[in-house]
Amino acid sequence: IDELLADGVSGKRVFVRADLNVPLADGTITDDGRIRAVLPTVKALAEAGAKVVVASHLGRPKGAPDPAFSLLPAAERLGELLGAPVAFAQDTVGPAAHDAVDGLQPGQVAVIENLRFNAGETSKDDTERAEFADRLAALADVYVGDGFGAVHRKHASVYDLPKKLPHYAGYLIATEVGVLKKLTEDVKRPYVVALGGAKVSDKLAVIDALLGKADRLLIGGGMAYTFLKAKGYEVGISLLQEDQIPAVTEYMQRAEKQGVELVLPVDVLVSREFPDLKTKAPADYTVVDADKIPADQEGLDIGPKTRELYASKLTDAATVFWNGPMGVFEHPDYAGGTKAVAQALLDSDGFTVVGGGDSAAAVRTLGFDENAFGHISTGGGASLEHLEGKTLPGLAALED
Ligand code: 3PG
Repeated sequence: IDELLADGVSGKRVFVRADLNVPLADGTITDDGRIRAVLPTVKALAEAGAKVVVASHLGRPKGAPDPAFSLLPAAERLGELLGAPVAFAQDTVGPAAHDAVDGLQPGQVAVIENLRFNAGETSKDDTERAEFADRLAALADVYVGDGFGAVHRKHASVYDLPKKLPHYAGYLIATEVGVLKKLTEDVKRPYVVALGGAKVSDKLAVIDALLGKADRLLIGGGMAYTFLKAKGYEVGISLLQEDQIPAVTEYMQRAEKQGVELVLPVDVLVSREFPDLKTKAPADYTVVDADKIPADQEGLDIGPKTRELYASKLTDAATVFWNGPMGVFEHPDYAGGTKAVAQALLDSDGFTVVGGGDSAAAVRTLGFDENAFGHISTGGGASLEHLEGKTLPGLAALED
């Protein structure tokens, strides 16, 4: 983007593909981290006199307009953060979008409606995607890719559109790629990875890749129960992906062979019922050893002994990557494990990276100072796929 700014963008229509896919509760943004992350790019372009057209997806609507997934709240927040009015177009490539863009003066910003209100955005058909990308290209003279959280998606605005316009990487993408390099090239050791989140199936590929790179893997969250089951423990009614047990068993054997320390919870918080996340009414739970989960109960957070154990495994790390909450952190009674891991990252002298999505939202909503971490990525799936060593369509398109 510095190159673009040096060439001059005054009066040019610059399409910024951002990732404004923020969590919403009843129409209110609960974490605006992703909007703040794209501000440097939007500000720099506006200050240089560009007519800035910001586009993003939000949620997973089904290729047609759906008010529940409107980008309007994100556009409003962007305006507040910029301290300047932001025009909002109620369609993506239709007359409203063209009116909004035509109405821009140099230095002004417009946001167009959710890209995924159009089937062409996510289509698997190359021609359909290319057609939609043509309609997006009609709105701009230049493309700036800055939606790091979506670079792993082969979508029209991420992959096809940059081929149709002069294209540049924004500041966020440049920063994210630079940081993730530190986790894949010349990594400082010990390199410790903490993985949580609900589904082990989402993390299989990254575990596979990390077994050859990390020194220690700490497992928590819903996915831990599939590991515990594979180890031969009963897990009651905890989240379990039976079909993943063979893969998990193989990883545990491989870890042992390769000298990678794979650490599982030694105790957990269990309850007969899932907590009420709306009322946050006090939960009825007990702490049990990981091999003593009662048949009618489910594990909802890592227990106090595990928190201490994981903290001790993180303190001497030179590099840490953490992705995925350790428990149902949205409820205060089950936030302790996630808080303990976040605190251990802060206490570590190593380079600490929090990998996007829920874990990034967790550190902010649990009240941690986000600036105290080495880096909080805006990409959940994108940062994991980067660590897996995959070619990410949105980065490949920009490098082209
Ligand atoms: C994310 O939240 O990880 C990104 O915004 C991508 O969203 P998606 O998983 O719906 O493609």
